[in-house]
Amino acid sequence: MPLSARQLALRALHEWRKSEQFADAVLHDLLASCDLVPSDRAFATELLLGVLRNLRLLDFWIAHLRRPRVDHATCDLLRLGLYQLLILQIPEHAAVNETVALSTKRTRSIVNAILREAQRQRANLVAAANAAPVSIRTSHPDFLVTRWTAHFGSENTEQLCAWNNQPPPTYARVNQLQISVADFRDRYGTGEQFADARNVFRFAKVPRDALAAGHCYMQDPSTMLACELLAPQQGDHVLDACAAPGGKSSYLAELMQNTGRVVAVDRNAARVALIRENFARLGVTNADVIEHDWLAAQTGAPKSVATPFDRILLDTPCSNTGVMRRRVDVRWRLKPDDFLRMQDQQVAIARAVLSLLKPGGTFVYSTCSVEPEENEQVVAQILAALPRLRLVEQVRRLPFRDHIDGAFAAKLSAVA
Ligand SMILES: C[S@@+](CC[C@H](N)C(=O)[O-])C[C@H]1O[C@@H](n2cnc3c(N)ncnc32)[C@H](O)[C@@H]1O
Repeated sequence: MPLSARQLALRALHEWRKSEQFADAVLHDLLASCDLVPSDRAFATELLLGVLRNLRLLDFWIAHLRRPRVDHATCDLLRLGLYQLLILQIPEHAAVNETVALSTKRTRSIVNAILREAQRQRANLVAAANAAPVSIRTSHPDFLVTRWTAHFGSENTEQLCAWNNQPPPTYARVNQLQISVADFRDRYGTGEQFADARNVFRFAKVPRDALAAGHCYMQDPSTMLACELLAPQQGDHVLDACAAPGGKSSYLAELMQNTGRVVAVDRNAARVALIRENFARLGVTNADVIEHDWLAAQTGAPKSVATPFDRILLDTPCSNTGVMRRRVDVRWRLKPDDFLRMQDQQVAIARAVLSLLKPGGTFVYSTCSVEPEENEQVVAQILAALPRLRLVEQVRRLPFRDHIDGAFAAKLSAVA
């Protein structure tokens, strides 16, 4: 029998809990193997991501409703039921009956009893949540709330946590290699132009026709900062050192009007294939796409690449703490020592690629993290290790201040 949306969400929650995979990957695999109609796919996605966004709060309510701990399978059912009942506010008969119907014979009576108790205690549960600390109320691990409070203060932390729980808007950058902004607006006029960037539109839902035609690329406005700081010129030889899936590389190609050369490198074969697909769809014709690991190689550059480069972008792997509204389960996978572990990797990749920068060349280091260990501290280490570099500018985007995803970019120049 085909799976229902709720069954798929329950299975996804189970897989997510048991594996090390991120929710996106779990969902992608499960949705690919079933034939749910689009509205059910959307509902299954909403259920899984909603439960993960509210995981700690849901477990707080479960602990209120039942003192002895419940086993994992029962806990997943209760999370799904309570999310529908208390957060989505789905009519009670559907939220409770449909969740009880997912239970096994063994768990049915306890799930039924706890969800009915939650219905009776709805007001108490909401009041208890409102009185709980921010980490419980907004479902974040204590260590993140503690570090953000130290860096940004408690009011900003509260806003950042709330931001992380909002479903993200759909932004599309107009691909001016294929269509002008004015023609895009005329043709796909349902989007609202983003106030701070004339080439970005906000859509109520994914603009599938525009995407398929290569007329846009889905990306948050924060991701364009690094490319604009790099400011590639026509005819430049540019390296995008960690390029997949190609969002920034394709914008660099656009800024260069398909002249010069963009060398887009990534170590992950599947993601390198995505760069190629994106370039083909977007009409990028001035690029070489290369699979290469900067840390595994003996020498800095892949053999087929001409060096040195006029400009290098290093959009490094990071903790993703600036994009948690898009990557809702990152908060549950991160560990307190990940920031320094990432820093070691970031500095090592930077040192590998910087040997390929021309005298007088420009280097931009960027992340979608809001953590100083991965941002300012990495830049300080690079500057200390490589005295031929000068800091030109560094910019931070903070969700609670700038109302876009968090991002960091630093522009450095090499003495001529
Ligand atoms: C933040 S993502 C890049 C996003 C991309 N710049 C964009 O805008 O679409 C970081 C990328 O770095 C790649 N990466 C991580 N470590 C690497 C390494 N040692 N060498 C090359 N690529 C690496 C990952 O596979 C990942 O695709």
